[in-house]
Amino acid sequence: MGRSWISQQAVISDVFTAVTSLSLAAAGPKRGEHVIDVGCGTGDTLLALAKIVGPSGAVLGVDVSAAMLDFARDRSTGAELGNVTCALADATTYGFEPGWADLVYSRFGVMFFDNAVKAFANIRSGMKEDGRLVFVCFRTLPESPWFHVPIEAARPHVPPQPPADPTAPGMFSFANKDRLHGVLAEAGFHDIVLDATDVPFHGRDVAQSMAFITQAGPLPALLEKASDKQRARAIEAVRNALAAKLGADGRGLHVGLWLVSASASQAA
Ligand SMILES: C[S@@+](CC[C@H](N)C(=O)[O-])C[C@H]1O[C@@H](n2cnc3c(N)ncnc32)[C@H](O)[C@@H]1O
Repeated sequence: MGRSWISQQAVISDVFTAVTSLSLAAAGPKRGEHVIDVGCGTGDTLLALAKIVGPSGAVLGVDVSAAMLDFARDRSTGAELGNVTCALADATTYGFEPGWADLVYSRFGVMFFDNAVKAFANIRSGMKEDGRLVFVCFRTLPESPWFHVPIEAARPHVPPQPPADPTAPGMFSFANKDRLHGVLAEAGFHDIVLDATDVPFHGRDVAQSMAFITQAGPLPALLEKASDKQRARAIEAVRNALAAKLGADGRGLHVGLWLVSASASQAA
């Protein structure tokens, strides 16, 4: 996954424009704050956060992918941001400095933990008493037409996929509201708010949308066991389905997200 995210970084940034604005606005980072970006990947939001908190603040990006983290580190050096630290680690076990963070933020970086309660409890240990947690994750696949339309178009052309465990680590592991709330509460968070939000995802045109869809999200796994011929037919069907749904400006489909916020401790 790391390799395709690096090669498609500019496309991914474009497609995520609306969700980045919405989630950063909800997180409300302030000048001078300490921020952790969990699963920071190639560093889009890490850099945005570093610019907002400024030289009197600091951001820490944590990710398990060395390749993605190297890319993020190079981008922060290139942007001459001296307040960025990158840690190659699993957020479940990383030794966060206790009580350091005013804000923990994540754009789609928290759905892959083997033990989600342990991971969020560990993340919480690195937060101040009044620290806030803000992240976005996906609701169910059918609630995200941006991903669902391509999957339904490709499905008739490729070998069937065995049904997946909906709570297994992966893109949709927090789709269920009760599970998500339960994990955060068990990890010690308070004032948990799960806001169902539909956000437009779009490339600049169908070609850019295809570049994203064929590399990221659930489609690559569906195509994995297909023969070259089946794959070619499936991709053609996806392109036609997207072209029918997207306007000339590439817009018209959305993803269904949970915009999540919580406090590290109970308000006094
Ligand atoms: C869908 S990508 C999102 C990347 C980035 N936040 C963005 O929006 O561009 C998920 C990221 O979470 C990272 N990740 C997965 N499991 C992790 C873990 N246990 N600890 C830290 N990072 C993790 C992956 O390596 C990947 O970079």
